[in-house]
Amino acid sequence: MSDIQTICKQAFKAKFNAEPTMYEYAPGRVNIIGEHTDYNGGFVLPCAIKYGTCMYARANGTNKIRVLACDMNNDYDEFEIAPQIEKHASKLWVNYLRGVTYQFSKKYGDKVQGLDIAIKGDVPPGAGLSSSASLEVCFGHLLSSAFGLGTKLMDVALIGQAAEAYIGMKCGIMDQAISANGTKDHLLRIDCKSYELTQVAVPQNLVILIINSNIKHQLVGSEYNDRRESCEKAAKIMGVDLLRDATMAQLEKFKSQMDDETYRRARHVITEDERVLEASAAFEKGDLDTLAKLMYQSHVSMKDDFEITVKETDALVDIVKNTLGEQKAAVRQTGGGFGGCVVAVVEPENVQKVKDAVNAQYKAVSGIDATIFETTACAGAHFEKL
Ligand code: GLA
Repeated sequence: MSDIQTICKQAFKAKFNAEPTMYEYAPGRVNIIGEHTDYNGGFVLPCAIKYGTCMYARANGTNKIRVLACDMNNDYDEFEIAPQIEKHASKLWVNYLRGVTYQFSKKYGDKVQGLDIAIKGDVPPGAGLSSSASLEVCFGHLLSSAFGLGTKLMDVALIGQAAEAYIGMKCGIMDQAISANGTKDHLLRIDCKSYELTQVAVPQNLVILIINSNIKHQLVGSEYNDRRESCEKAAKIMGVDLLRDATMAQLEKFKSQMDDETYRRARHVITEDERVLEASAAFEKGDLDTLAKLMYQSHVSMKDDFEITVKETDALVDIVKNTLGEQKAAVRQTGGGFGGCVVAVVEPENVQKVKDAVNAQYKAVSGIDATIFETTACAGAHFEKL
């Protein structure tokens, strides 16, 4: 049993005075490439990581969800399963669960019944590694499994995405889709228009390294929705539904009808889609040189065109690049942006070099330490009857 499982199970027993009968787990994610492309119907290339959210649960014979959050000082909430569920006035963690319950209740009516649940996770919060998606998917998959609803994994993901919208974050489908559908040792290329999923094996000779700038990213109510609006504006000017359907040639044609910012936002998305397709081919071949080129281009595009990087993540990218050289440094900021983590794909013998360089150089730029960990590509959500 992992640490989070042990703590969570004990907390369940202490709070509800009974043994749990169900266990659920869903991971966080890291995105190798394809940023802010998902809500434009484009491509992304994430994998599930070794950190996630777990839940122990038991049917409680009521129509209430009663839930204990170990990571929030054992904060507790309960709410009725109803066709309309009000948002909690102040507790964000509760609202993710309320949003998911609301969607399930709408879809399945009174097949969804009361559960007692304890939750614990180990995805670093605010790091852009999708702690909230792992919470939503964990809970959605638990509800589906507990009541035999047979909800498809992609539908669990879509419900998680709807829960984000309920809270005010108009995110795309990437985070929930990978948390639900991750496969061990594989990245997942997601076509966010057709929802086609393609597994891309992680070559033996490459390691995924995540470097947390420890600059918190907080997306709810932030500039994320503004970026999305700019993309929608550019698509409208070009007469397409989604930026996925536009080409660079089209963008150039319409350039004079757009303000510079809208043009640059669209340029990021259109070129990023191309990079995802090239990067996934490079990844399959273990072609680190090409991957390094594409990931660096992605970072520069996020920095100059989409304007979602910060000086600390820029510095981390530079440190890795200067340490390994352009051809070996596949590195970029990952996730929604405005801080969080950079992801690097490196050869095993270079892991220590990167760690040493970051530990020696990052604090001078940021005043704080970075946190570094390796991950393999992990499996998505899974349920167990105990
Ligand atoms: C956040 C959102 C995702 C995606 C990324 C940026 O993680 O939840 O849907 O848009 O940002 O790629």
